[in-house]
Order: sequence, then C-alpha cells, then structure tokens
Amino acid sequence: MLRIAVQKSGRLSEDSLKLLKECGIGVPNGNNQLKIKAENFDAEILFLRDDDIPEYVQDGVADIGFVGENVVLEKNKATEIVERLGYGKCRLSIALPKTRKKIELKELNGMKIATSYPFILNRWLKQNKIKAETHVISGSVEIAPRIGLADAICDLVSSGSTLFSNELYEYETLLRSEAVLISGKQLSPQRKELLDKLLFRIRSVKKAKY
Ligand code: PRP
Ligand code: ZN
Ligand code: MG
Repeated sequence: MLRIAVQKSGRLSEDSLKLLKECGIGVPNGNNQLKIKAENFDAEILFLRDDDIPEYVQDGVADIGFVGENVVLEKNKATEIVERLGYGKCRLSIALPKTRKKIELKELNGMKIATSYPFILNRWLKQNKIKAETHVISGSVEIAPRIGLADAICDLVSSGSTLFSNELYEYETLLRSEAVLISGKQLSPQRKELLDKLLFRIRSVKKAKY
C-alpha cells in the first residue's frame, strides 16, 4: 500500500485530488478524516498541513507527497522531486509598501523582513550581501508592514491580489514554484512499483492535456 500525502486545505488540495481522480484513483469524501483508503488503487491518502509534508515523507510516515516546490526548498529535507505537476504556479517574492517605490537593492540593508520562508530568504540575502533582519511568522505575513511589525515581507504571490489589497507591491522575485510530487529515498520494492504505476498515469494525464 502506498501512503500519499496531500495538503489538507489550501491552494493545492483541490487540484491534487483532481489529478488523482484523473489517474483513476478515487478519494471518498471523509468529513475531515486525516486518513482515507483510496478507491481502485492500493493506496491511503493522508491529509496534512503542506509545511509538514516534506518531513513526513523524509521520515517515511508518508511514501510520497503532493506539495509546492516552495515548501520542498524551504524545508530542505531528504526527499526527491519525482515529477513536476504544472499546477499551483506561484512566485516567492519580496514585497514592499507602495509608499517605498524605486529603491535600490542595497536599501534593503537594515530592513526588517517578515516571512514564513526564512531558509530561502536568508540564503538569498547572503548571496546578495544584504544584511536585513528576518522576522519569522507562520501566516498572514502580508499585514506585518501595516501593523509596524516589519518594513517588507517575503511571501508567495500568485494572482497578486493579496499584495494589492494590502497596499504592497512585488519588488524582487526569489524563486518560481509549482506543485511537485516528492518521494522518500527508501521506498520498498512494492511501494516503488506502485509509485511507478502512479507516475505512468500522471504522465499520461499530462500528455493528454498538452
Ligand atoms: C499564499 C500567500 C498569500 C497568498 C497569495 O498563501 O501567503 O496569502 O497565497 O496569493 P495571491 O497572490 O493569489 O493573492 P497560501 O494560500 O499558499 O496559504 P499558506 O500560506 O497558508 O500555506
Ligand atoms: Zn502552508
Ligand atoms: Mg498565506
């Protein structure tokens, strides 16, 4: 049996379940259950917070996971990207209040930047020789500048509407991301076989679409 981790609720949940369905794998409605047996495939679906998926896959609690590449890169766990999935496209960007237009990169020095992506942000700051203070918060990062908690933010941007409604603008893109399928590094031969079967179906679905 293959244990598949999917985001419990959020931007990738619906598309991930849709993709599984297109692969002929049914996921019954289980009113908020954490674990559900799949239909027509030897698998179990685990509904988890997206941020936890890389660690669960690394530790073998789940065998594979549908998750944003941004989360995979941030968590930096021992997992492998086995397929890029083409949905959930977004950017991880630094955003500034609209009142701070046209600043140079070096003006980020000394700023306080709120983010849920400290690993990626700090690496980027180091590469660009910028000394800024990072302030880690797990959600609602976009309100930090308004409440005086930070000068800037580093967060995901998809449609841009969150930035817009918080009077922020996208200043610099650190990375581009999409949904990916990750796998643990030590799958048993039986589970590897199930993963190969799923990958074959995912690739057929993708081919039929594009
Ligand atoms: C991201 C980000 C913003 C929003 C941006 O959150 O933190 O809140 O999406 O999207 P937009 O540009 O289309 O407005 P996400 O939905 O990934 O949830 P999470 O941060 O709770 O994981
Ligand atoms: Zn999240
Ligand atoms: Mg958010």
